[in-house]
Parts: sequence; structure tokens; C-alpha cells
Amino acid sequence: MDNFTYYNPTKLIFGKGQLAELPNQVKQYGKNVLVVYGGGSIKRNGIYDNVMAKLAEIDAVVFELAGVEPNPRISTVRKGVEICKREGIDFLLAVGGGSTIDCTKAIAVGAKTDIDMWDIVTKKAEANDALPFGTVLTLSATGSEMNSGSVITNWETNEKHGWGLAPYTYPKFSILDPTHTASVPKDQTIYGIVDMMSHVLEHYFHQATNTPVQDRFCESILLTVMETAPKLLEDLENYELRETIMLSGTLALNNMLNMGFRGDWATHNLEHAVSAVHDIPHGGGLAILFPNWMKHVLEDENVGRFKQLAQRVFRVSTEGKTDREVALEGIEGLRAFWNSIGAPSRLADYQIDAESVELMAEKTVVARPEYGTFKTLTEQDSIEIFKASL
Ligand code: NZQ
Ligand code: ZN
Repeated sequence: MDNFTYYNPTKLIFGKGQLAELPNQVKQYGKNVLVVYGGGSIKRNGIYDNVMAKLAEIDAVVFELAGVEPNPRISTVRKGVEICKREGIDFLLAVGGGSTIDCTKAIAVGAKTDIDMWDIVTKKAEANDALPFGTVLTLSATGSEMNSGSVITNWETNEKHGWGLAPYTYPKFSILDPTHTASVPKDQTIYGIVDMMSHVLEHYFHQATNTPVQDRFCESILLTVMETAPKLLEDLENYELRETIMLSGTLALNNMLNMGFRGDWATHNLEHAVSAVHDIPHGGGLAILFPNWMKHVLEDENVGRFKQLAQRVFRVSTEGKTDREVALEGIEGLRAFWNSIGAPSRLADYQIDAESVELMAEKTVVARPEYGTFKTLTEQDSIEIFKASL
């Protein structure tokens, strides 16, 4: 593996009733708090009222930014930045899923600079400060609650980009109470499961050698999620199952699994291009694309990784089969599992047809002409993977 420094300053506050910790955590940062949330799920499930009651205990002066979209938009980030500057906000509190948290990260940076946040997201300009922020997670999927990444969409240019500004865009704390995810509907629960598994898989496909600990960590999370997901989907309010999925989602993308190497991330690049053009759920896009990326990049030189995954996670027997056959059976195992939990498998499931393949492929190379570390891909590869996914 490569040399590395691991640093993750987010305080993780996990378990039932842990919202009780909110006042203690927030009060160290000041009085003026901007609470950021999405389209209203937190009002329906009571989390909003509970958060407000906790903030009242410390006499916080609360401002609100509601309506953060799934696939959060730069226009909403700009609204939040304006509130921060106008009202002298000291601290931001994201209450929601990855979209709300990602939007909050961008607002936190935007509040401390006069540069437009889109220039920072697209890396045309740099910033080096942010307001402090914390999160109350309500949906297990992205890992944004314990990483410094954020993904923002611009509907004027049909672009969706990942960015981050470590250490400033790590949450100061994240409160993870599995009961907060009990109301997540079945479809969003499925997307979250696909997303966290995809994060593990993005790590798994790397070029480093001697990573047995990291490999087993990854395999253990995949096996755990695959064992838990079908039970959870039959029993959406089960605390222990939500608990297992919640911890899996956070560990899948807090950079613990990729100590000493960089994962591939081509499939995320492909998916971000699809949702930048069609605004589909991130996990839905990944379920369609990941097995097709695997088939596209599989070759003799890298078959070992695929074979290991097939044997250890999908329990494929090797007897009488070539390495390639074992690898392909593993890929089919992943597809079959995602089909079995009700994830989509074709772009047609979102009414996306051949007409937009070239535009989506163009979007995969807006930031750089080549992408992917396990296998370097170009716009032509994007076209082929999208065509195979129709
Ligand atoms: O908006 P509200 O009304 O809150 O409803 C949300 C939204 O409609 C709903 N929801 C959330 N918690 C709920 C709930 N409904 C009922 N009960 C609850 N407790 O779920 C819907 C989806 O929420 P969203 O936050 O969009 O989902 P997710 O957490 O999957 O985030 C997706 C975004 O994160 C980005 C994706 O690209 C996408 O933009 N990603 C961020 C990453 C990161 N920062 O590290 C990495 C990921 O790979 C990903 O790209
Ligand atoms: Zn993801």
C-alpha cells in the first residue's frame, strides 16, 4: 500500500436518544444557528420539532433554510450563503440526508468568501475557511456525515460535481440515531443500500498491492449489508437492522476502508453525469451502472480482484471455471442481489434512452479528459458503458 496520513475530526455521536447531546455540541460555536433541511420529511416525522426544542434549551437564535433538493442545487447554496452573511450566522446544522449535508458544506464555505461557490465547486477558485457545522443524519447512504466531500448540481449547465475542502468541510459532529431513519420509505432505503455498497466497491477496485486488512474490511461491510438489507426491507422500522445499515453507511465512506490507496470512482463519475442530465436518484443510477462498469473494465491483468470479490462475497465456486468465468459470475451475483431488493437495472427504468448517451458521456469528462484509477477511462468508454446500460 502507499504511505498515508489518516485524519478524521468528525465526532460521531451514535445511538437512540443521542439528540440529547445537541445543545452541548452546538453551544460551543455561538448563538446564531442556521438549520438547513430538505423538502419536509423532518416536519412529518417529528425530527424538526425535536431539534428545535433542543436548540431552544440553549436559547439559540434559529434561522432556517428549507427545501434543499435531492441532488442539491447551487442556487440553494447561494440562498444559504446570503442568509449566513445577512444574519451573522455562527453555526450551521444540517438535518437530513446527504443532499442536505452536502448543501450545508457548500454554504459553510461560501459564507466565508466573496467568491461564488460554483467556482469553488468546479475548482476554478480556492477557499480556505468555512463556518463550523454539524449534522443530524436522517438517511443512511452517502457517508457525508463523516467525510469532507460534497456533491452539488448546476441546472444552468447540467453539471454535477464532487468537491471538498478538508479539513473545513468535515462536520464538527454528527448525530446518528437509527430511529431517525425509521421513516425512510422503501425506495430511498434501497437507494441508500446501493450507494453504500457502491462506495465499498469503489474502494475495492484499486491498483495498490498488499491490502489484506482493507480488503477484509470492505468484504465484511458488503456481506453485512447484503445480509441485513432484505430483512430491513421487510421490516422498515426495525431498530437493530436500521442501526446496522446506519453504521455500514458511515464506515463505507469515512476513508477508513481506503487507507493506503485511492479507489476507482469511475462509476460515481458516470452516475453524476446521468443525474446532472436527468435528475435521477444517485443510488438508482449506481445500481444500473456498476455491474456494467465492471464488465467493461474486466481484463486478464485485473481479473484477480474480480475473482476475489466473487469468491469471498458472492460465494462463487471456482471448480472447473476460468478466472474470467468466476469474475463474471460475481458480477452477475451483484446484479442479482440488487435486482432482488428492487433496485433498477436499466436506464430505461428512468425513461432514459439512446438519445442522451452522448450528452451524458460529454458530462463525464467536463472536469478532466480521463477518469478512474483502477482502469483509466475516456469519453468513448462512457459512451460504451451508457449504451450497455440502456
Ligand atoms: O427532502 P426531504 O423531504 O427531507 O426528503 C428526503 C429526500 O426526498 C428523503 N428523506 C431523508 N430522510 C428521510 C426522508 N424521508 C423520510 N424519512 C426520513 N428520515 O429522502 C430523499 C432523498 O434524500 P437525499 O438527501 O437526497 O438522499 P441521499 O442521502 O442519498 O443523498 C444523495 C445526494 O448525495 C450525493 C448524491 O450525489 C446526491 O446528490 N452524494 C454525496 C456524497 C458525499 N457527500 O460524500 C457521496 C455520494 O456518493 C453521493 O454522490
Ligand atoms: Zn455514492
